[in-house]
Order: sequence, then structure tokens, then C-alpha cells
Amino acid sequence: MAEFITHSRAETVALGKRLAQRLAPGTLVCFTGGLGAGKTAFTEGLAEGLGCTDPVSSPTFAIVNYYRGPRPLAHFDLYRISSREDLETAGLYDYLDEGAVVAAEWSENFADLLALERPVTVDIRHAGGDERVITIEGVEL
Ligand SMILES: Nc1ncnc2c1ncn2[C@@H]1O[C@H](COP(=O)(O)OP(=O)(O)O)[C@@H](O)[C@H]1O
Ligand SMILES: [Mg+2]
Repeated sequence: MAEFITHSRAETVALGKRLAQRLAPGTLVCFTGGLGAGKTAFTEGLAEGLGCTDPVSSPTFAIVNYYRGPRPLAHFDLYRISSREDLETAGLYDYLDEGAVVAAEWSENFADLLALERPVTVDIRHAGGDERVITIEGVEL
């Protein structure tokens, strides 16, 4: 487990970029932390670090955004998903099988199920102002 403190959006993006260097193909990254914590910002860094050049946006309405690149990234928002069936239909397991890195915002909704995939977990907490406490488990940084 490693804990980081960031003081700006840019620092959180940079941390995501750094984590991307450590991720094997087919790794699931599970985010926890409420609205505005910085999950999408962190994912922007992941995409950058994986070499994906498409712009990153919140997949809230699409459920999943797929970013092409040398190391593709599938970016999920599980906020509106409530059943395992929906998770499968959205393709979460298919993307993992294909070797994409899969980032999942609101993984709280499926904590037990997603734990089976041996995820890297990223928890982001507000710590006043622009400060965030970011706890990363499941990989050495
Ligand atoms: N240290 C920080 N890390 C990440 N985002 C920050 C930070 N400080 C301020 N922010 C702001 O917080 C918001 C985070 O938004 P976003 O990444 O979409 O959050 P989430 O996806 O968790 O809802 C952005 O408006 C960003 O500019
Ligand atoms: Mg988001």
C-alpha cells in the first residue's frame, strides 16, 4: 500500500501517468472516492501513460469509453450499473480478456465481485481545498 498527497489536478494526472508504467495488460484498476474526488483526472493520466491519445472524458452516460493506443484503456463508470449481468453486457470482462487496462470509477458498487479480478485499487479522498489523499494498493510504484 502506498499513500500519496496531491495538491492540484495536474499532480493527480501525473500520478496516474506514473501508475500506467506499472500496469500489465489486462489489469483492472478500481477507483473509490466520491464525486469530484479526481477519478477521471487520474484516469486521464493513465491514458496518457498508456500512450492513448484520444481525449478522456467521464463515461457517465456511455458507461464505457474505449481509448485506442499501443496499450488500450477501457474506462468505465459503474455508478448506474447494478447487476453482474449489466457488468458483463457492458463488456468489462471482455476488455480484460483482450488485454486492455480497465479503469472502473464507482467500483464501490461491485466491491466483492471485482475483488476477484485482483485489481489495483486507487482510493481518492478530499483533504481540504485542492488536496487529495490517494491510496494505491496491489502494485508497487
Ligand atoms: N488534487 C486534485 N486532484 C484531482 N482533481 C482536483 C484536485 N484538486 C482539484 N481538483 C478538481 O477536482 C475535480 C475532479 O474531477 P473529476 O476528476 O471529474 O472527479 P471524479 O471523476 O472523481 O468525479 C476537477 O474539477 C479538478 O480540477
Ligand atoms: Mg469521474
